[in-house]
Amino acid sequence: MNSTALPQQEQPRQGPVLDIQGLSVAFRSHHQTWTTVLEHFDLRLEQGQATAIVGESGSGKTVAALAVMGLLPGYARVEARRLQAGNLDLLTATPKARRSLLGPTLAMIFQEPRASLNPSLTVGYQLKEAMPRGSTTAAAAALLAEVGMADPRARLRAFPHELSGGMAQRVLIAMALARKPAVLFADEPTTALDVTVQAQILAQLADLQQRQRMAMVFISHDLAVVSQVARHALVLYAGAVVEEGALPELFKHPAHPYTQGLINALPGQGDLQPISGLVPSPGQWPPGCRFAPRCPRASAVCHETLPPWLTADNSRVRCHHPLRP
Ligand SMILES: Nc1ncnc2c1ncn2[C@@H]1O[C@H](COP(=O)(O)OP(=O)(O)OP(=O)(O)O)[C@@H](O)[C@H]1O
Ligand SMILES: [Mg+2]
Repeated sequence: MNSTALPQQEQPRQGPVLDIQGLSVAFRSHHQTWTTVLEHFDLRLEQGQATAIVGESGSGKTVAALAVMGLLPGYARVEARRLQAGNLDLLTATPKARRSLLGPTLAMIFQEPRASLNPSLTVGYQLKEAMPRGSTTAAAAALLAEVGMADPRARLRAFPHELSGGMAQRVLIAMALARKPAVLFADEPTTALDVTVQAQILAQLADLQQRQRMAMVFISHDLAVVSQVARHALVLYAGAVVEEGALPELFKHPAHPYTQGLINALPGQGDLQPISGLVPSPGQWPPGCRFAPRCPRASAVCHETLPPWLTADNSRVRCHHPLRP
């Protein structure tokens, strides 16, 4: 080794920390048929970038994250043209090599905080398990303090049922950050919490993400929340991205009628205008544009052919009749 080389973790990264191209996920049903739930999914993140995935329930947000984490069940099929995290090609890596990424390279905060903690073990025990081997109690308390936990020493001795929802989520954030991951997936991390606690935790997460120069994929169905933590967003509809772009511009001037529909359905935008109709289930996606059956702008071509990507600088949209050029 060359004597001037930096220690491994300080070496500047070459290229993206996460590179996903053409990811698709299908699940096998009882009848041995495959149902695709996510298709054509692309996401490229450099160190320190925060992006969001938004979309209604069932659009495939969690599945996308779990596919990268390698945490989908055995009856799932994951395919991609490229699936790379850190320096590892996930398509060819051994299960052992993939597991070794969890913690230092990839970490995830799950949708349901309480279900992710073991009720019979103390917070301190579970937190130390997530930290590098031999971490001290003082280091565990410092980590809890960093995620905004009051009285961290006492909290280490607590069991999960003694924590409020907000405290439980702070413990999970601390566990996810314990090995300073290069990429953090935060899956609806504050949805289960009341608004005040939600705002505090979001601010803390955004601050930690920036200070640690961690890449973050923030998953939410709540557009208002997304702009507080991410600089870019992908809009997912029925298992495929329909639009992506920089924030807050994307939500100020959306190009896809579905994105516009999500914005119109936000409270506080005058009259609430929910998008009429229902999201089609996987296996029942229409040909052409999947949003066409619900789209006020749809014409014959929308029902027949999948729109091509229209690309401009930092944004792109998949629509035959976009709202702006
Ligand atoms: N383990 C599984 N087995 C079979 N189907 C699954 C499994 N997990 C998810 N799905 C299906 O995949 C699709 C996408 O689910 P996913 O959980 O990614 O949605 P989501 O966008 O995260 O929704 P939500 O906002 O409700 O969390 C859904 O149709 C769901 O029913
Ligand atoms: Mg989900």
